[in-house]
Order: sequence, then structure tokens, then C-alpha cells
Amino acid sequence: MLAPVDLRSDTVTRPTPAMRQAMAEAAVGDDVFGEDPTVHALQSRAALMTGHEAALFVPSGTMGNQIALLTHCRPGDDVLVGQHAHACLYESGAGAAIAGVQFTTVGQGGHFDADQMQAAIHGLDRSGHVPPTTLVMVENTHNRGGGKVMPPDAFAAIAARARARGLAVHIDGARLFNAAAACGVGPAAWTRHADTVTFCLSKGLGAPVGSVLCGSEAVIARAHRYRKMLGGGMRQAGVLAAAGLCALDDAPQLVDDHRRARALAEALAGMKHVRLDPAAVQTNIVIFEATDHAPVQICGQVADDVLILPFGPRHIRAVLHRDVDDGMLARAIEALKDVLDG
Ligand SMILES: Cc1ncc(COP(=O)(O)O)c(C=O)c1O
Repeated sequence: MLAPVDLRSDTVTRPTPAMRQAMAEAAVGDDVFGEDPTVHALQSRAALMTGHEAALFVPSGTMGNQIALLTHCRPGDDVLVGQHAHACLYESGAGAAIAGVQFTTVGQGGHFDADQMQAAIHGLDRSGHVPPTTLVMVENTHNRGGGKVMPPDAFAAIAARARARGLAVHIDGARLFNAAAACGVGPAAWTRHADTVTFCLSKGLGAPVGSVLCGSEAVIARAHRYRKMLGGGMRQAGVLAAAGLCALDDAPQLVDDHRRARALAEALAGMKHVRLDPAAVQTNIVIFEATDHAPVQICGQVADDVLILPFGPRHIRAVLHRDVDDGMLARAIEALKDVLDG
């Protein structure tokens, strides 16, 4: 029997043979002593690609985001984020517990514009009642927003307005390379306007572990200390960085995941018990509404053939990634049709 097609997340990919070979052959050293040449190579490449002075390899996107909060904010500060931001909802309360910040949500559906952001900035309050807004964080692409892209010019307008008000700007770019592939530009189209960015190697890019935080020399020097404080100092991390370098080579392949996500969305939109606008699917994430049955029930019914995740009380998420080819997608669609089109 064939294994089910796994569409739960783009984190489920296995390292490619090329990655495994690069990992086996990687030159390594103790990175806590700053002696791992492969980590250095990855960090240099990340800094170059994002137009920043420096970069830091971190174990996860969560740690990258949390270090950004620590470097930009003081305890009690207010951070602006889009609705359902990962840093606010899915990092186990770390923003409050570790950096001591609070979040204010701006806009609907994940993204917001410069005017909405400006209206949410807390003004100067000499009485001390109001927490100062010191950071705006943009998630691009937006996970709960269905992989939605914030276009570079919309982001540039937010960043310019934020800077004019003295705010720092961080991109949660866990899937920034998906945004780049969707817009046909490089990641610097966004990152050159930001103070810092975290991007993940272990999502659509397919590496087994790791994310990179990029910023100025000064910010990354501070970030280096916070990474150690959070237990993220790694030793012969070159074996992981080597996979990350391969993952960056493969970034152009993300357009294939986007094409398959759109094909899945179009197929789902034609099924009787589904509500979804395929035109809203911009990258590799497909979120659809199950109109007649509970998502948990549907996910259970198809689980022998395709793995998908309930995403709230009425919605289901499917994510395309490099380990799903056209044949596997066709099989997944057939299984979904049996349950959702009957
Ligand atoms: C938008 C976004 N940011 C950050 C993260 C955190 O990444 P990690 O799982 O590597 O901590 C995720 C993970 O899914 C994510 O979707």
C-alpha cells in the first residue's frame, strides 16, 4: 500500500540526496568559537542575498523571531503584528515570557497597510500609561492568511512610515522565498527595507533544520549573545548549514509547489462540499472551508491516502512542498473528491 500523501506542512520534507552528501562532506568547526567554515559560508550568503551586513544561523524560525524581539524591544514595549501572526499565536507565548513584549494586532487576514499601522502606533504618553510601540513585524508569506504575499511596494510603504515614527521593522520571513518566487524577485526586494529578517531553511526550501536572522553588524552582534542565552549556540553546525546552502540553491523550484497548490485549489473549488476561491491561493498553502462536515472528521476519513490538518472549526489546510510530485497530487485530489464531492 502506498504511504499517504503528506500535505500537513512544508516542514515534512526529507533531505535530498544532494543535501545528505553535502552534509556528509561539510567542513566543520566549533561554531560557538566562531570556527565553523560552512556556517560562515551560509551566513555570508544569507547576508548578501538579503542586502544586510551580517547574519546568524539559528536552530528555528521561532528562535530567530524571539531574538529579533529581544534585540529591538525592551520589556513592556508594544509590537505591531498582523492578525493571527505566528510570533503572537504560535510561539508558545515566548514574546511575553522571554522578551516581555505585548502585541497589538493590525488589520484583517494577516496583512495590513501603512495607514492601518500608523493608526495603531501608540503616541507619546508622558504620563506613562501607554506602552511605547517600538517594532512592527510583518509575516510574509502569511501562514494563517493562506500563504498570502505582501507585495514589495506595500511593504516598503509600511517600513518607510515605521522608520519615520522611530519604529524598527522585522520580517518573519519563514516563507519569504515563497513570496519571492511568487513575485519573481529576490528576497532583498523586501529585506532591504527592514532592520531584520528571519527566514527558514526548513520549510519549503527543504533543509532538515535551521533558520537565518539577518541585520546590521551591530544588531547581529547583540543577537549572537541572545542566541547563546536561549541555548541556541551550536557546535559543529556546518553539517546543518551545508544542507541549508543546498536548500538555497533549490529555491527556484518553489514555483512548482505554487503551481500544484493552485491546481489543488481549483480541483477543491469544484467539489460539492467545499468553499474556496482558487485565485486567493498565491503560494504553497491552500486553506479551504468544509461546508458540510467537521474538519476533524474529513481529515480522519482521507487519512489513509492524504494527510491534511484541521485549521480552526470550519477550515482545513493543505501545504504543497518539494516531496509531492504531480502524480502524488493527483492521488490526493482523488481521495479528497471521494469524501468532499459525494
Ligand atoms: C510564519 C512562521 N513563522 C515562524 C515559524 C516558526 O518556525 P519554526 O517551526 O522553525 O520555529 C513558522 C513555523 O511554521 C511559521 O509558519
